[in-house]
Formats: sequence, structure tokens, C-alpha cells
Amino acid sequence: MIKFPPHFSRIDTALHCEGVNLALIAKQHGTPTYVYSAAAITEAYQVYATALQGRKARIHYALKANSNLSVLQLLHRLGAGFDIVSAGELEAVLAIGAKGADVVFSGVGKSISEMQRALNADVSCFNIESIPELDRLNTVASSMNKIASISIRVNPDVDPKTHPYISTGLKENKFGVAKEAALDLYRYASSLPYINIAGIDCHIGSQITTIAPYLDALDRLLDVVESIEANSIAIRHLDLGGGIGIDYALDGAVNVPCVGEFISALLLKLDRRSHGHRTLIFEPGRSLVGNAGVLLTTVEYLKPTPYKNYAIVDAGMNDLMRPSLYQAYHATTEVTRTQSATNQLPVYDVVGPVCESGCWLAKDRELSIVPGDVIALLSAGAYAMSMASNYNIRPRGAEILVNSNESQLIRPRENIIDMLASERNLLVKPSVAI
Ligand code: LLP
Repeated sequence: MIKFPPHFSRIDTALHCEGVNLALIAKQHGTPTYVYSAAAITEAYQVYATALQGRKARIHYALKANSNLSVLQLLHRLGAGFDIVSAGELEAVLAIGAKGADVVFSGVGKSISEMQRALNADVSCFNIESIPELDRLNTVASSMNKIASISIRVNPDVDPKTHPYISTGLKENKFGVAKEAALDLYRYASSLPYINIAGIDCHIGSQITTIAPYLDALDRLLDVVESIEANSIAIRHLDLGGGIGIDYALDGAVNVPCVGEFISALLLKLDRRSHGHRTLIFEPGRSLVGNAGVLLTTVEYLKPTPYKNYAIVDAGMNDLMRPSLYQAYHATTEVTRTQSATNQLPVYDVVGPVCESGCWLAKDRELSIVPGDVIALLSAGAYAMSMASNYNIRPRGAEILVNSNESQLIRPRENIIDMLASERNLLVKPSVAI
């Protein structure tokens, strides 16, 4: 039995996001369509804000999770800064009226032009991951006669106990600088004329559902901070990254600690080790938006076989890549439930139209559906649309933001004419081309 995330509920037979019937959204906008609850995002942000009350702290939303401008605007109004990883994300953040001062710039592969754009925008901090990156930033900053504020990402070598593709704080991962090498790098950074040391950072992975790895990582980070400061290099802020997991199962069986518990445990450790006075930065993505969204998709065909029942739907791995890529679980439910939940229902694999066996969205789900019905894949607010692609020349779906009883189209469905318009067919003379 699914326990819906906050602000999603079934009223009689109809699945609702806040006060809006999702069947009506599917009817009006078609499918696949992503629907987000403004109240759920707001509430998730407030949990962080409340947990950090009284501290010098800022929440920098990692917009790789969901970069729709309306979502960014909502979080900006609530007071969030942003954690970006590309020039594109920087432009998105500037487009909603945030300033460079609201931005920390993460990522292992910043290009020269990205550094130039970020320096022009006066971003508050570059999170540096290697010596060559630091050297490049110093050179670019010198050519622009600017001072770049930096933090060095420390790789604490901690196992976050999550999917290997989203574990980032183990020594074999490409991220950060080994904790043993950090002091030397800080010494080197302090000798560079166009670099200003602002802080230190750490991000050990994503969809982390136990607190212990965070506490281990924090202990190791604080050891590094103490050794740096013993060398008379001041560290103004601690950026503890993102990564707090959400409950995808929604069946009440898994006990994922809530954000408040994570933050309290970290604050307690900081206080115990006499670092409670420091300015803190968090970079949450998923825990702000993940459970605030669903993906609506229509059943095209039911295909029974001797081995499996397939429900073939109009959303594919290009719309929700997480199951294919990480074998991720998304709870699945009918948007309009006609049959009582107590009846024995057929079991389906929910699969998409893309020509790969890896194009599946959910396995072994009891569903009461016929072709034409709409189903919802829950917890699709994070890393769903932001990871969507045009594979198989499939237009990406529409995005809707619900606020109380109102819904607004915040990104129309792509159309195929526009998708093809930027391509050039060199074999056909333009006058002959259609
Ligand atoms: N900060 C840094 C430096 C990161 O690399 C990430 C995520 C975050 C913050 C935000 O982490 P979050 O709070 O969202 O866990 N596509 C994957 C997740 C990739 C996460 C990458 N980095 C998924 O769908 O599970």
C-alpha cells in the first residue's frame, strides 16, 4: 500500500497534487508530463531552514536535480542560493534574478570559458577538485584581473552505502582531493596571487539513507580543517554538500532518516568538536524536490506473454532514466483507481517504447489498468526531467507546477519540428529540402 508523499493524495478515486486532479492535467496537457507541488518544495526547504535556525548557514540548491526556472524561482524566493556545475546552470540561475553571490560552482571539469563566465558573474566560491583546476583558475582570474574565492573539495574516503554510480567520496572516485593531500593543496593555494581561500567542502554521494557515513566524513573533514588552521590558513565556511536521501519505497517499510535528523546529528558533531561557530553551506538537490514531483504516463498497450505481463506506456527511459541507469525504484499508481485495492490485481512490468530492453520504468507492480489509463510514477521531482533526453527522437515532456488549486505549464512539451530545426542536412540542397 503506497503512502503518498506530502501534498499528493487520493480523493475518492482520483490522485491529486495539492488541490488539482492529476487526471485533468493529463487530459489538458497530454503525457508524458511531470507535475510538481510548490507546497511540497516549500515545505522541504523549510525543514532545512528550521533545522539550521540560529546558525550561520545557507542552503544552496543543487539544480542538477531539477532546473526548471519556476522551481529555481520558488526556491530563490524562499532564500536558497544555488550549487551549479555548468555554464548552463549558471545562466539559468542568473535568468531568475539570482546573483553570482548566491552561487557556489562545483564540478570536476570546469572549462576556461565556464570559469570566465563565473568570474564575470562574481560567483561566491569555486569548489576546486584538483591541482590543475586550481592552476587554471588562477591563470584565468589573473587574465581578468579578478580574485577567485575557492574551497577545496576533500575526498574523505567514506562509503556512503548508495548506488556505486552516485558514490563520490571513496578514494577510487574521480572527485575531490585525498584528505592526506588537502593541506599541501591549501598551502599551495594560499601562495597563488589570484586565489582567495574561502572554505572547504565535501560531498560523499547521493540518495544516502544512513547518517553514519556523513558523521564519518565530517570527522575526517574537521581533522583536515584543524590541520590547515594550525598552518595559519583560515577556513571561513564548511560546505557539507548534498546527498540526503528520500523515501522512494513509500510503503512505510524503509526507515529513511528525515532531513531534520541528519542536520541535528551533524550540528551536534560540529558543536562537540568546537566547530559550531562556523558558517555552513549545504547543497541539497533530491531532498528538496524529489518527493515533490510525479511523472504522468498513459498506458498504450497491455501485452501479456507466457513470462510477464507488460504495460507499455508512453514514457520511456529517455523521460525517466533512473530505473535503467541505477535500477531505481519509483512507486507507481493509477491516476484514477476504479477497482478496490483489496481485489487481486494483475502484476505488470511497466515499460517504455524505446528500443532497448533496458527501457523499463517499474517492475512487478500490481495495477488496475486498461489501455488509455494514466499512471503516475511517484518521487519523480528530482533527476527525472533534468536527465531526460531526446533518444529515439522523442520530445521531452511538459512540466507543470501546482500551487494549491491552480496548475501552470512551466515548460511546454517539446515538438518534433523544433527539435529537427537546428539540424543541417548537407546532402540535400536547401532549395530542395522540405
Ligand atoms: N553537490 C554536489 C557536488 C553533487 O555532486 C550533488 C549531486 C549534489 C550536491 C546534490 O546531491 P543530492 O542532494 O541531490 O543527492 N542522477 C542521480 C543523482 C546524481 C547526483 C549527482 N550529484 C540519481 O538520479 O539518483
